[in-house]
Amino acid sequence: MRSFTSPWAWATIALAFSPAVLSGPVKRTNGPWLAINSDFPDPSFLQAADGVWYAFGTNGNGHRIQVANSTDFVTWTLLDIEALPTVASWELDEEHWAPDVILRDDGKYVMYYSGDAASDSPHHCVGTAIADAPAGPYVPSDTPLSCRLDQGGSIDPSGFLDSTGTRYVVFKVDGNSIGHGGDCNNMVDPIVPTPIMLQEVAADGVTPVGDAVQILDRTADDGPLVEAPNLILQGDTYFLFYSSYCFTDPQYSVKYATAPAITGPYTPSGVQLVQTGDYGLTSPGGATVCGCGQEMVFHGFCGDVAAQNERCMYAANVIVDGTTITLA
Ligand SMILES: *[C@@H]1O[C@H](CO)[C@@H](O)[C@H](O)[C@H]1NC(C)=O
Repeated sequence: MRSFTSPWAWATIALAFSPAVLSGPVKRTNGPWLAINSDFPDPSFLQAADGVWYAFGTNGNGHRIQVANSTDFVTWTLLDIEALPTVASWELDEEHWAPDVILRDDGKYVMYYSGDAASDSPHHCVGTAIADAPAGPYVPSDTPLSCRLDQGGSIDPSGFLDSTGTRYVVFKVDGNSIGHGGDCNNMVDPIVPTPIMLQEVAADGVTPVGDAVQILDRTADDGPLVEAPNLILQGDTYFLFYSSYCFTDPQYSVKYATAPAITGPYTPSGVQLVQTGDYGLTSPGGATVCGCGQEMVFHGFCGDVAAQNERCMYAANVIVDGTTITLA
């Protein structure tokens, strides 16, 4: 599918075949579009076994985990369902953040999410939950995948299937939750690390294999933090997408780093893939790019933007060219 990544290639395909021959999502090439006009932060997505696209968002609109679906990736329907009808014994029934879902080899769906640790609220652990269908109901495990409460907790999980068939989960150590004040509680010295970790998991997607390894951390270019990691492999390059700065800051943006091997070293590209002002967006972040490297969802403030009480889901098409990513 990589030969389809340039707009010129798409133009050629469009001329050569009737649209009915094309499979997969409808392509738009004029930048991101508003996909869910409602509060739906930290979105992730996958294409389910039946070809329907499902997106998952942080708690909102009366649900612990939000779900939307789409037949074409362009037009989305926010579903009035509860994807996580019960919570795990380790967590409180509040603050379910940044879900991410993978389709396991046995046909089951595994959701990774951040839950509020009952033993150390408001710090979070990464939990797992399993369902037979993409929209759920997801049944949570009573064993969290990662807690790291001594370092601030574990949040923002995202699954990754390597070309070798090995599964991983990337997540963020929520160091700023034990910071010393300022933007996102981490602009006052001593600044607390907010590392991005890579955890190998077994084929079941939920059993850790060995210890997590650090693959990135914030630098002075990231203000208080990096967060919302998402890993894909295109060609021989691992692309680690992440958000930089505090989500309430106009400098919040989507960045990416590249590496020749899954454990790194990851080199920040220095590029802001999408930032405030681009396409009329405000504080875009929390992005997920599909493993296919062609589609992305993310959030940005919407509604009464100044009030910062609503983050809508935007969708975009992505172009991978060597070690460079652009939005179509
Ligand atoms: C979207 O998900 C809902 C809930 O699972 C389902 O009823 C509906 O059929 C789905 N839409 C499509 C197009 O599959």
